[in-house]
Amino acid sequence: MSTHTTEGILPHGGQLVNRIATPAERDEFLEQADHLPRVQLDERATSDLIMIAIGGFSPLHGFMEYADYESVVEDMRLSNGLPWSIPITLSVSEEIADPLKEGSWIRLDDAEGKFIGVLELTQKYRYNKAHEAVNVYKTDEHQHPGVKVVYEQGAINLAGPVWLLQRDPHPQFPKYQIDPAESRQLFLEKGWKTIVGFQTRNPIHRAHEYIQKCALEVVDGLFLHPLVGATKSDDIPADVRMRCYEIMLDKYFPQDRVMLAINPSAMRYAGPREAIFHALIRKNYGCTHFIVGRDHAGVGDYYGTYDAQYIFDEFKPEEIGIVPMKFEHAFYCKRTAQMATTKTSPSLKEERIHLSGTKVREMLRRGELPPPEFSRPEVATELINAMQKQS
Ligand code: ADX
Repeated sequence: MSTHTTEGILPHGGQLVNRIATPAERDEFLEQADHLPRVQLDERATSDLIMIAIGGFSPLHGFMEYADYESVVEDMRLSNGLPWSIPITLSVSEEIADPLKEGSWIRLDDAEGKFIGVLELTQKYRYNKAHEAVNVYKTDEHQHPGVKVVYEQGAINLAGPVWLLQRDPHPQFPKYQIDPAESRQLFLEKGWKTIVGFQTRNPIHRAHEYIQKCALEVVDGLFLHPLVGATKSDDIPADVRMRCYEIMLDKYFPQDRVMLAINPSAMRYAGPREAIFHALIRKNYGCTHFIVGRDHAGVGDYYGTYDAQYIFDEFKPEEIGIVPMKFEHAFYCKRTAQMATTKTSPSLKEERIHLSGTKVREMLRRGELPPPEFSRPEVATELINAMQKQS
């Protein structure tokens, strides 16, 4: 099975999905808008609809039917055997699901009530939340932010192919809204044959910068791909994180080797399973490599530090296609006066500077700059300013 062509790495499943309505389809949907039953999407389902439509979730064409859902939850594969680790579902209450008929078309509105998409309802089904939680998140504790969403969502999944009416004409990050078809084209134009994708939901710090640059030493280009969909309430908002990236790119990165773009998805905090999902998304954007560091997509103590790396061993490399680049916990090493990991530095624990996210947030809230060994001062200043505006 070939995984690459002269046009770059193949999308997952072989073809990039496009479910953005054509102008003719859109006119047809708009004509029917007032006659279709309506379902309102929350922030996560809205991002999922967008990701399906732009091909970020290729080969998915819509929200999962039961066979795919169950196979993903149980075996990390779609029902056709293709690896897929996170269920993509549209869950509604019984009250909303009851009057909806299989075979009908449904109007999908965003959280503000704006008509944004259409679902051809092929199936509705009940599912087991505890089973999903334990398999996907490895815990059924309600405090886990991903599990919490599962427990709070409706009892019935609506499934079927979707269309997005149009790509948002007024995006929050116009310059960085680069969809998979476009990033693939840009990689070709730049002549990049190997590209490493970087997932992140946190403000950039020096350990991030270090692993990004280590990876960039061995590939042609770096695709910085911060997640800007729903995150938990104590994560730093996307606009602040994007500004930090702009500051970093201006001063600390070679412009011709790096591309910054947004990933519209919502965070699941599913650790290892989400690492596979994150890698497959970046493959769809055209990346050949993907960075997986310490506790990737983890939260609290739910996952082992390197579980998100070990999980790749459960698949054949050609099934995943994109190559994981695995990094150990990086820190600033006082002895060697540089960023390092235990693979590259013999330092003792007390010679390492690493701060936890919570500790850094506390410092920033007090208006205190974290040490330059942890964060570039320009980024820390931006974060302090943002926090002061917030409070
Ligand atoms: S995540 O939820 O998106 O994984 P974050 O933005 O903090 O959170 O991490 C982005 C990537 O950098 C992930 O691959 C993560 O494993 C990695 N990472 C974060 N901090 C470190 C560190 N100190 N050392 C090594 N890898 C790290």
